[in-house]
Amino acid sequence: MFKMTQVKPVRPVAPYSGGKSRLAKTIISHIEAIPHNAYCEPFIGMGGIFFRRKFKPKTEVINDYNGEVANLFRILCHHYDPFVELLQWRLSSRREYCRLIDTRPDTLTDLQRAVRFFYLQRLAFGGRIDGKNFGMSAKGTSYFNLSKIRPLLSAVHERLSNVVIENLDYKEFITRYDREGTLFYLDPPYYGNENDYGRDLFSRNEFTLMATLLKNIKGTFILSLNDRPEVVSLFKDFFQLPVKTTYSIMSKDSPRRTNELLISNMVLKGH
Ligand SMILES: C[S@@+](CC[C@H](N)C(=O)[O-])C[C@H]1O[C@@H](n2cnc3c(N)ncnc32)[C@H](O)[C@@H]1O
Repeated sequence: MFKMTQVKPVRPVAPYSGGKSRLAKTIISHIEAIPHNAYCEPFIGMGGIFFRRKFKPKTEVINDYNGEVANLFRILCHHYDPFVELLQWRLSSRREYCRLIDTRPDTLTDLQRAVRFFYLQRLAFGGRIDGKNFGMSAKGTSYFNLSKIRPLLSAVHERLSNVVIENLDYKEFITRYDREGTLFYLDPPYYGNENDYGRDLFSRNEFTLMATLLKNIKGTFILSLNDRPEVVSLFKDFFQLPVKTTYSIMSKDSPRRTNELLISNMVLKGH
């Protein structure tokens, strides 16, 4: 009944703050242990978990309330060739980076918007989406070398075939796709960092709404959050599994060790 197809894991096309590369193996092993026929990710970002999975069910749906993220994936999915064409002659340049920061996305076509967002995301320091800073160091090599980027883009383009891409608030997304057999993996902004992805997307009150919503779903879910007493208390009605990770944004040379909490309405192995 729960048929899974093997897929080649793919690397995300750009760095992203809060991207889950260090925890991916652990989270994916829990995802793969839960039988499901639809996989839905309401907070996709650059897809640090989605793209690294080794098995997929028949239905896959990704979502992000940030229109730039959703637009980039739609363009990669449906307009891949013109997108790569537009990237062709771009170099890592602080001047071009600043010009694009100053360009309002709503003055651009969807294709130009995707190029702008992708370019800024590749070059932003630490993949940060807020208050972007040009991320090139004097020692570093160019992050915008199309011959290196093209294979990543091509793999993501192929992986996105048959994936539905949404641009909804997570509550509407979960309500719309909730069925028996659906597995949601949720990676929202951390508790205490609610504004990291833009002020209008998420607030602290969302965690209370999220806990109430998740209590009543028909499907299953895994939620990852920072392990804080407030989070433990907000999600006390679910199974909780602490896991350790390193988190290095802003501290490249000495990664900080942080604790993460996996929360679920299913028992996770390791409990
Ligand atoms: C921690 S990041 C996800 C990182 C992702 N797992 C990755 O590997 O790149 C959280 C994402 O949630 C999105 N987001 C914030 N508020 C949202 C909301 N209300 N509904 C849906 N997405 C939201 C942000 O735009 C951001 O991309």
